[in-house]
Amino acid sequence: MPDSGHTYLCALDVLEEDVPRRFEVEGVPVTLVLTGQRVFAIHDMCSHSAVSLSEGEVDGFSIECWLHASRFDLRTGRPLDPPATRPVPVYPVRIDDGSVYVRLTGEG
Ligand code: FES
Repeated sequence: MPDSGHTYLCALDVLEEDVPRRFEVEGVPVTLVLTGQRVFAIHDMCSHSAVSLSEGEVDGFSIECWLHASRFDLRTGRPLDPPATRPVPVYPVRIDDGSVYVRLTGEG
């Protein structure tokens, strides 16, 4: 069982490969992405403007903002293309007994 700093988001089997899924954790929008058999949690807001990243496309370990096409690395939150220049927070994910948990503190 994860420690108390982790918040339960969903069962692992509701996530589809490369299909972002948005959640809210204590008022914070968080997108989960299952890709390459790993699960990533990234803040669901582009750092360039207030656009939901969960509406973008996943390609490998990146997610693309649909508005101006900046891609962000799901592992680090760093932008890979302009116009975004600032990273997006990423959050530690824990999988435990088929459940997905995220910890909001420890932004990357
Ligand atoms: S709003 Fe995301 S790249 Fe511009």
